[in-house]
Amino acid sequence: MSASVVATSSSAGLAARLARSLGADLLLMEEKTFPDGECYVRVPARPSPLTVLVHTTYPDQDRRLVQLFLAVEALKGVGVDRLVLAVPYLAYARQDRRFLEGEPVSVGAVLRTLEGLGVDALVTVDVHKPESLHEWLRIPHANVLPIRELAAYLGSRVEDPVVVAPDRGALHRAEAMARALNAEYDYLEKARDRVTGEVTVKPKEVDVAGRDVVIVDDIISTGGTIAEAVRAIRKEKACKIIVACTHPILVENALVKVYEAGADMVIGTDTVPSQISYVSVAPIIAKALKNKGGY
Ligand code: R5P
Repeated sequence: MSASVVATSSSAGLAARLARSLGADLLLMEEKTFPDGECYVRVPARPSPLTVLVHTTYPDQDRRLVQLFLAVEALKGVGVDRLVLAVPYLAYARQDRRFLEGEPVSVGAVLRTLEGLGVDALVTVDVHKPESLHEWLRIPHANVLPIRELAAYLGSRVEDPVVVAPDRGALHRAEAMARALNAEYDYLEKARDRVTGEVTVKPKEVDVAGRDVVIVDDIISTGGTIAEAVRAIRKEKACKIIVACTHPILVENALVKVYEAGADMVIGTDTVPSQISYVSVAPIIAKALKNKGGY
């Protein structure tokens, strides 16, 4: 069946790559801002009954979320039969539970709104906690990880590396990357000396001295987490340190912070357009759409 990929300006490059991968038409949403700051979007031509909307929600997240809600409503309004949504970076996914009483489960609010607006299926990329999708959605959904693609980009840039997650929670990514690179993996553990109170951060098991290290995480936002990880690995006398992330949000001087900490190279994907978005997630989104997204 023929399909359209509809792009907003948030993700036009990725949407074009996706349209090519799918052999679909590409349509760009019209967008503008009213004098009072409100968003406006318009579908400029009739898309195919089967439409994939690509819209990513990196900062300014609130504005991009409103654009997303309006774009979905507009597409339903022009009679799209089946609307599949690809959100390469899903904002608010880190607030996936009520850490303090009285807080919202923000990811739940976002997902429920999308479902309520009539989205038929959702594809996300390396969403902070994939369980959130099962918890809040009844529509078909898929979450894809670009780990093999990041590993392929690293290729010969590293030699017999150790893959390290910045914390235990990110260990599954390190494990997947290690599998792709046929390498060892570990995570950084924080320990406090009970006598001196000194805090040390070091790999739990593997000695990284003289070895190439790949640090892998989902998001680099302020760069604080990764800079601390890089410093810890440098202290252990690693050789080359390469940082790989899915979502290079890179708030302010995040990249400088990570390089100053001692990284040799930082790479990311095009879920967030950035100066380090070397790897495209278009092929894995296309595959998910064909396999699981009801495409
Ligand atoms: C945390 O749970 C995430 O996996 C990232 O490590 C974190 O969001 C990165 O944020 P920042 O770059 O601000 O330290």
